[in-house]
Amino acid sequence: MNRMTMLGTGYVGLVSGACLAELGHIITCMDIDAHKIRRLQLGQMPFYEPGLDTLVQRNHARGRLAFEADPARATAGAEAVFIAVGTPSGADGSADLSALFAACHLVIESAPTRPMLLVQKSTAPVGTARRLRHEIASRNGHGALLEVAVNPEFLQEGCAIETFLHPDRVVIGTDSVRAERLMRRIYRPLSLQGTPMVATTLESAEMIKYASNCLLATKISYINEIANLCESVGADARVVAHGMGLDHRIGSSFLHPGPGFGGSCFPKDAQALLRFAAECGVTLRVVSAALEVNRAQAERMVVKSEAALGALPAPRIALLGLSFKPETDDIRESPGLRLAEIYLERGASVVAHDPMAMPNVRTTALGRRMRFAEAPYEAVHDADALVVATDWEQYRNLDLRRVASLLRHPVLLDLRRIFEPQDAVDAGLDYHCVGLPPRLGDRNHREPRTQAGLGARRTAVDRATPTHARADSVSRKSAP
Ligand SMILES: NC(=O)c1ccc[n+]([C@@H]2O[C@H](COP(=O)([O-])OP(=O)(O)OC[C@H]3O[C@@H](n4cnc5c(N)ncnc54)[C@H](O)[C@@H]3O)[C@@H](O)[C@H]2O)c1
Repeated sequence: MNRMTMLGTGYVGLVSGACLAELGHIITCMDIDAHKIRRLQLGQMPFYEPGLDTLVQRNHARGRLAFEADPARATAGAEAVFIAVGTPSGADGSADLSALFAACHLVIESAPTRPMLLVQKSTAPVGTARRLRHEIASRNGHGALLEVAVNPEFLQEGCAIETFLHPDRVVIGTDSVRAERLMRRIYRPLSLQGTPMVATTLESAEMIKYASNCLLATKISYINEIANLCESVGADARVVAHGMGLDHRIGSSFLHPGPGFGGSCFPKDAQALLRFAAECGVTLRVVSAALEVNRAQAERMVVKSEAALGALPAPRIALLGLSFKPETDDIRESPGLRLAEIYLERGASVVAHDPMAMPNVRTTALGRRMRFAEAPYEAVHDADALVVATDWEQYRNLDLRRVASLLRHPVLLDLRRIFEPQDAVDAGLDYHCVGLPPRLGDRNHREPRTQAGLGARRTAVDRATPTHARADSVSRKSAP
């Protein structure tokens, strides 16, 4: 059991603090947002994450998790202080480290009276931890008692508790033997369950985080480009991704074609990596291309619906899904919001629904230009097209016949492939998605360029599905 402090009670800090308490440690969470701390003291969660309220309440009741607004009280007696504050994109794309350094100053000023480890959990460019160390050294006195480690976080919002408590690895970056020993002790419950520990230098630990996130972002952009090609050649991108992912050298995760990546990490970390690589005189062409493809993908989705709607002026779009992924209310860099922005720019109106994220969107400038519906069918009512941007479970169960009857034009853009195309066609919808040829339900469906001969005797759905793939685990209705 170790006594520790978590600075920042955002998506990472609060989950990490609660999970470390669950592992048996005594944690005090501190935030400069005193209102947030007051709410946490009352048992109110500042954001939605499945299971977090129960985890927080349980560990609070056990006396292992406390919330404190005063930095000196929060850090008193701590062996380690984790910094999990935001490192958002600055105006030029580089990581804005002002909150990280402000948090570091809080720790120095809180005057530790015995050795304390400062742990950089926030994602920050290579070299940041060493800068923190210089900062500490330059502020003589109590700062001398502080050592520094890097411990990047890999949790995933929507399943943050599970991914914190059962990570693929724990990365520990430090030059200090004593610091490494303490970090290994903190994460001992995880190493006992077989989690690999990667102990390395400050720089390598910082780089592992960026290199990992940027590879995942690149994988998404890659499969989106392949999906766009699939649409032209009559291949089914979902089957292609499945066939690729079975190769263990590739793996199936992050191979889901869609409207592009979003969230608080991939776009900002890719930009930050490009920036600090450029400062080192290195051009990262692959990462740059991943961002470029991602930007174009959202635009491409809107063009898809415009093609389906023809020259309809000022269409009304029903948009389902505003969070960047399901099971979170996080709207940072959400593809759904990017789509809403483009639709509004082009003269459409948007009626949106999301099970959790609507309160966050309502407070934004973009949100004030949209309308919100309390239920998905209400959003669909009298709309010219339905666009599904986030694959929330509740959207999978929509009654497509009812959807078709409520829409003014039966256009469905299923950007997460949550519906069976044939079901949508059978319900009377003009179905479009990412990675299948357009106009699936149209009797005058254009022959796929490379499969014209094959296509002649097959249905639209069949035409989009390679014969060899139809018996695999991607379930699909047989052709009528
Ligand atoms: N969100 C994710 O899924 C995720 C996953 C892995 C890593 N990360 C990284 O973790 C870091 C935190 O991300 P987040 O999503 O939790 O951010 P967030 O914006 O949700 O939370 C940051 C919190 O820090 C608080 N804060 C700011 N300055 C402070 C200070 N000086 N002292 C104490 N608290 C302060 C803010 O009030 C806020 O509550 C970022 O570097 C991010 O890149 C995020």
